[in-house]
Amino acid sequence: MTRSSRVAVIGAGNVGATAAYALMLRGLFSEIVLIDSNPGLATAQAADIADANALGRPARIWAGSYTDAGGAGIAVITAGAVTHGNESRLGVAARSAEIVASCSEQLAAAGFTGIILVAANPVDVMTQVAAAHSGLAAGRVIGTGTLLDSCRLRQALADRFDVATMAVEGLVLGEHGDTSVTAFSTIRIGGLPLDHWLPASNGSDRTALAVQVRQEGYDIVSGKGFTSFGIATAIVRICEAIQRDENAVLPVSCRLTGEFGIDDLYLSLPCILGRGGIKRILPPALDPAEIEALRHSADTLRAALARLPA
Ligand code: 2OP
Repeated sequence: MTRSSRVAVIGAGNVGATAAYALMLRGLFSEIVLIDSNPGLATAQAADIADANALGRPARIWAGSYTDAGGAGIAVITAGAVTHGNESRLGVAARSAEIVASCSEQLAAAGFTGIILVAANPVDVMTQVAAAHSGLAAGRVIGTGTLLDSCRLRQALADRFDVATMAVEGLVLGEHGDTSVTAFSTIRIGGLPLDHWLPASNGSDRTALAVQVRQEGYDIVSGKGFTSFGIATAIVRICEAIQRDENAVLPVSCRLTGEFGIDDLYLSLPCILGRGGIKRILPPALDPAEIEALRHSADTLRAALARLPA
């Protein structure tokens, strides 16, 4: 039986534990099961998070097994290979694919019929791997994708123009990685297009902004060895949209079926998210240069998939 009140977090490392803690604080689930190939780590993280229960939001938090995950409404896969310093996410694809394929197969074997949310890197490739190995419908396998990059873009613009982050809209699309596409045409600050704040004639400034957003993950990894708070909050936000059947529109990694001429490939476009997962992809009105950049991102991801061991 699927319990929508249960979430399984697979991988109890920095991202998984932070996500489980943030999920507890948001009070979206009454049951949180942590699973790790190192059961001692999962037990310790679960106990540490459960210690916060009395002062946080009450939930049952335990270190469990795939049998426990089988009945969960959402399974978040954070287990995967980690990158170091300036190592690219695609550089760990083969190692991560083995782990994510195994997690997905174990979920399927446990009778899991919920929604898989993949956060392991390289996230777009890993979402495709999870879809292939779980046997779930495309709309039920989602990657955190460029939600995090879009948050970084909004934060960078908010800082630069001294406005609240909430007043900034803007999308980063495509790969969560080195070919991410900062879609300048989607940016609105206080409802005004970016041209009002940073004219297109100032091309080098716009390029620097896109580079800054792309570099942020590397800088954090160089400084503290991993990233955790941003990605954990992206996980929580996606879970929230699903749990509350919000029909929220968020940029997440989804399976494209012909959008912008890209077919059968996972990368980020804005999606309507609700109880069943991805209800619909909403392709934005991009300009020709942005479409070209998105196709380049797709080509890069397709090449990375082709390089995975069979
Ligand atoms: C991030 O961008 C490293 O993908 C991770 O935070």
